Amino acid sequence: MQGHVKVSGAKNSALVIMAGTLLCSGDCHIRNVPLLADVERMGQVLSALGIRLTRNGDTLDINASEITTSKAPYELVTQLRASFFAIGPILARLGVAQMPLPGGCAIGARPVDLHVRGLQAMGAEVQIEHGICNAYVPGSSGRLKGAKIYLDSPSVGATETLMMAATLADGETIIENAAREPEVVDLANFCNAMGAKIQGAGTSTITIVGVPKLHSTEYNIIPDRIEAGTFLVAGAITRSEITLSSVCADHLFPVIAKLRDIGVRIIEEGSDCLRILPAESLKATDIETLPHPGFPTDMQAPFMALLTLAEGDSLINESVFENRLRHASELNRLGADIRVKGNAAFVRGVPMLSGAPVIGTDLRASAALVLAGLAAEGKTTFQGLHHLDRGYDRFDLKLQQLGARILRVSEASTNVELATSTNNSPASMTT
Ligand code: EPZ
Repeated sequence: MQGHVKVSGAKNSALVIMAGTLLCSGDCHIRNVPLLADVERMGQVLSALGIRLTRNGDTLDINASEITTSKAPYELVTQLRASFFAIGPILARLGVAQMPLPGGCAIGARPVDLHVRGLQAMGAEVQIEHGICNAYVPGSSGRLKGAKIYLDSPSVGATETLMMAATLADGETIIENAAREPEVVDLANFCNAMGAKIQGAGTSTITIVGVPKLHSTEYNIIPDRIEAGTFLVAGAITRSEITLSSVCADHLFPVIAKLRDIGVRIIEEGSDCLRILPAESLKATDIETLPHPGFPTDMQAPFMALLTLAEGDSLINESVFENRLRHASELNRLGADIRVKGNAAFVRGVPMLSGAPVIGTDLRASAALVLAGLAAEGKTTFQGLHHLDRGYDRFDLKLQQLGARILRVSEASTNVELATSTNNSPASMTT
């Protein structure tokens, strides 16, 4: 492969900033929004709440002056965990919210206890019945109160839910042990652009002083660091020279450091461009996923695909989610040598992978399997394209433009397959 990739806006910023527009009783223009099924779904959740929303290219025009109901639609919220984060803004605006529990998914149970306990600390009464989180703020004002909140673990979603709720609360809120992810900072910057008073985002202690109202604004979403990291791995695993633009290298520091650690050459060009150069060989390394600024759990699966071809033994420890190693068995179908024990994967490098039919189990596992298919000898058929379309903006098209032989079988069903091969073996796909 060879060429240039334009990285899209960050999925995990766009989704929570869309929820954040519920805090504003005016117009919000959000730019650099990626084209994703999850963004589409979040738009449906907002519309069901009475929000006016239109998409013009990569811009979303949202007006939340009228929230016509405090009850989010069950079937949409259970499909999109990020929509649960809207409980913070809805409660802050209306003093009442009925939010279905998001439920678990392929990578884990995905509880929301930290979100709930934080809202209770801010004065909300919360009962969970029949899979619905019923929250309301007692008292005549219906307004949440500022509180000092300690998060048992630096949960991204809980930090975001509580930070949004606190922007309209009465008084000051301090969130200790807060998540430090770039998407949390992006959300804080968006809220401050609406007139919120948030300080310390990006550190473990975030302070929010509540204000009565938030005003209209326009905002640009940051580039997607996980999409950028995925394309860096695509370049490394196929020994290609590719450039990525609109990338914030600081957001990718742990991934760039580990790629350099295994022998990949990455050059930072200008303020927002990265160039990856082919490496003669890849060395094994150990990875432990951690909250930011540690190695991101969302890059664990793509990086595992890369380490299957490194020289030597690598140890990967998935410490954030309890069930996020399921792609190992599918990578083994492509000829990898991976043994999983609990939350640890022992990856013994092999000289080559060979094409086979594989099935994606979640978003990042699916990306990992496509990347492995790019490097494999012969044809790989991948099933589970609906996972990819949730979180990667035109992933197969961007890879095709780099020269990968990858083909979406048909638009007939959402669960289509695609095959990948960069060598001259026939690329064919089946559904
Ligand atoms: C966000 O999920 C991201 N999603 C995830 O990206 C990402 O993997 C994750 O943060 C970690 O970085 C969005 O931003 C939409 P957490 P979130 O709360 O907020 C436990 C992707 O592929 N926990 O930081 O749900 C939880 O079980 C997705 O783009 C509680 O115990 O993640 C997990 O073990 C996948 N109680 C750990 O914390 C809670 O109340 C981290 O979860 C909340 C979380």
